[in-house]
Amino acid sequence: MKIDIITVFPDMVEAALKVGVLRRAQESGLLLARVHNLRDFAEDKHRTVDDYPYGGGSGMVLKPAPIFNAVRFIMKNDSEQQYVKANRKTPPRVIYLTPQGQTFTQRLAEQLSLESHLILICGRYKGVDERVRQKLVTDEISIGDYVLSGGELPALVLIDAVVRLIPGAIGDYESAQEDSFSGDLLDCPNYTRPAEYDGMKAPEVLLSGHHEKVRKWRRQQSLKRTFERRPELLDTAYLSDEDLSFIESLKSCND
Ligand SMILES: C[S@@+](CC[C@H](N)C(=O)[O-])C[C@H]1O[C@@H](n2cnc3c(N)ncnc32)[C@H](O)[C@@H]1O
Repeated sequence: MKIDIITVFPDMVEAALKVGVLRRAQESGLLLARVHNLRDFAEDKHRTVDDYPYGGGSGMVLKPAPIFNAVRFIMKNDSEQQYVKANRKTPPRVIYLTPQGQTFTQRLAEQLSLESHLILICGRYKGVDERVRQKLVTDEISIGDYVLSGGELPALVLIDAVVRLIPGAIGDYESAQEDSFSGDLLDCPNYTRPAEYDGMKAPEVLLSGHHEKVRKWRRQQSLKRTFERRPELLDTAYLSDEDLSFIESLKSCND
């Protein structure tokens, strides 16, 4: 997968790309991440990327031209490179990170992990000139109902969540499939050695080596945790008869 990030703070994004899963994904060729400094696409000698808002008021707005120039540069480069050779003609998704966008979820991360090319636009100040949204952007994504100073952290949140879903990006793909939201439920509690720490024991069943009992315990703990913390997830979860009767027992304990 190829991901291009357009930002006025390239150092911030590059720092995060140099560690952990994102670094390894690049080293193994699963991810080609390129960070573009928006100022390199400005059209004046001062490398101006922002200007005052029409209509007055406080704050600055990211000018349209540098963003259009950056996206055109990326797309031109892209069409001249391996994607055309590999006969992959799907146009890249051009994503603007914004608190006004659709909320980022695990399902959306899964969808995006199937794409071959994403272009991420990080806003700053009051955001981008509206014409960027009208003409360039294919998706607007929010990482939650709060406002950050820039789109760099949201872009990194998106990249991390998406890249770890590419098969081979993390050592233990199976473990990722057990993560919260990967199925319909929250993850179960996890324990590691020692079996007893500071008077607190790991559940016996996990030490039993009995696979079916471990599976059942984990499933029930996931159901319990979801019931207690995010009961609305159970409304759309795929549940077996065994799950349903376990949930009924939880409900009757609560009555
Ligand atoms: C200060 S915010 C601008 C907010 C904008 N005036 C609004 O109310 O929609 C600056 C930039 O941070 C990014 N940003 C802030 N909060 C975000 C969120 N929750 N999700 C995604 N991006 C966000 C966006 O790229 C945005 O353009």
